[in-house]
Amino acid sequence: YTRAEVAQHRTPKERVWVTYGTDVFDVTEFVELHPGGPDKILLAAGGALEPFWALYAVHSQPHVLELLRDYKVGELSPEDAAPPPGDTADPFAGDPPRHPALRVNSLKPFNAEPPPELLTQSFLTPNELFFTRNHLPVPAVEPGSYRLRVEGPGGRALSLSLSELRQRFPKHEVTATLQCAGNRRSEMSRVRPVKGLAWDIGAISTARWGGARLRDVLLAAGVRDNTGDGEWHVCFEGLDADASGTPYGASIPLKRALSAEAEVLLAYEMNGRELPRDHGFPVRVVVPGVVGARSVKWLRSVAVSPSESPSHWQQNDYKGFCPSVDWDSVDFGAAPAIQELPVQSAITEPRPGAAVPAGELTVKGYAWSGGGREVVRVDVSLDGGRTWREAELGPRPERGRGWAWALWELRAPVPAGARLDIVCKAVDRSYNVQPDTVGPIWNLRGVLSNAWHRVSVTVTK
Ligand code: MTE
Repeated sequence: YTRAEVAQHRTPKERVWVTYGTDVFDVTEFVELHPGGPDKILLAAGGALEPFWALYAVHSQPHVLELLRDYKVGELSPEDAAPPPGDTADPFAGDPPRHPALRVNSLKPFNAEPPPELLTQSFLTPNELFFTRNHLPVPAVEPGSYRLRVEGPGGRALSLSLSELRQRFPKHEVTATLQCAGNRRSEMSRVRPVKGLAWDIGAISTARWGGARLRDVLLAAGVRDNTGDGEWHVCFEGLDADASGTPYGASIPLKRALSAEAEVLLAYEMNGRELPRDHGFPVRVVVPGVVGARSVKWLRSVAVSPSESPSHWQQNDYKGFCPSVDWDSVDFGAAPAIQELPVQSAITEPRPGAAVPAGELTVKGYAWSGGGREVVRVDVSLDGGRTWREAELGPRPERGRGWAWALWELRAPVPAGARLDIVCKAVDRSYNVQPDTVGPIWNLRGVLSNAWHRVSVTVTK
């Protein structure tokens, strides 16, 4: 077939054809089965799959190609077999360089976590090592022409340049931990497979953020607390968009956005430096105590609305379910969007399977809870949870504000030849504790994984 012939098959009525390499496929019967939705696969109809697969790395798995093979109907004629220029342009080619220490879970889009040993090296995570969770290519923003649109309820809107945001509103600083809902997902998939990136324990990091208070900007846009008529929301959109032009988006309740105590920021600084590109340059939202997904990066608009963000990531992702719910029975509309996260802790040292020397063992880790519920205690067991000791919590620069993690340490004598089953669990200010096992909190998306963390090691002679 020629490319022109393939291009005539763009709708289920004309039949839906696509190419991959030099092969031609009729995927009409697959359109409704496409896990990303029929609308997304139809964007590729009549043309090459490569530019779309390059955006959505989930396709680069052998079973996807195998599945496609069943739909093959022919090949491109030799004169048309070379890809049209520009079609395979890599949308991620403009992504920034990254630190080689990061453990990469997916390259395109870029998702990576710091190695556990480095995670608890310092209270503030260095910008270069801060975990990165990108759904799309990193937008290239020219700071001089950047504008942030802020829409109030009555059609009143502000358009702020970066320097206006810096100069019109007092700079506020908050030390806050961000955690992805999928942190520790790999432990959940060991119980039963789940869909999502296989995060270890490092989808969590802490920084000192500087920027304008969202509250101040909303008040300047004429927004007042109108929660009298039901819960209102503040919807954020990023400058990163998918192949159909749909941007990343999320929302938080208006009450939180306007609360002085909640300290929600439109941040332009991270640990005293301008935001790195991977973390939202030039402006991102930081919602302390709330799941990372709501802290929208590369912020392009803020809008007050009677409904939550219509974004896929607010409506059909980042929600928790009963362990019995599967992909046939899941009803995303029925579950609330995750906002404040539950209590969490993990062991960063020693590493699973390590052989540690006899004598004094140092166990290290982090502990954190959502909603500003500060961690008050971390319990550590060396015998699988039969007996417990209290870990020592490290210094916390903003004690009492509750947005940042506690790093902890336990020193204990260990005899040669012993096998240790090290376990940790944290307690927050509301006396919330972590569940002991993963099974009862398993969910199909692998979010909210916060069971006791376990690390087995042996002690050498
Ligand atoms: N904002 C935009 N615009 N695009 C994104 O992909 N990812 C979200 C959030 N904000 C995302 C975003 C998710 S799921 C998380 S956990 C945090 O950003 C991660 O922030 P970080 O990459 O700075 O650690």
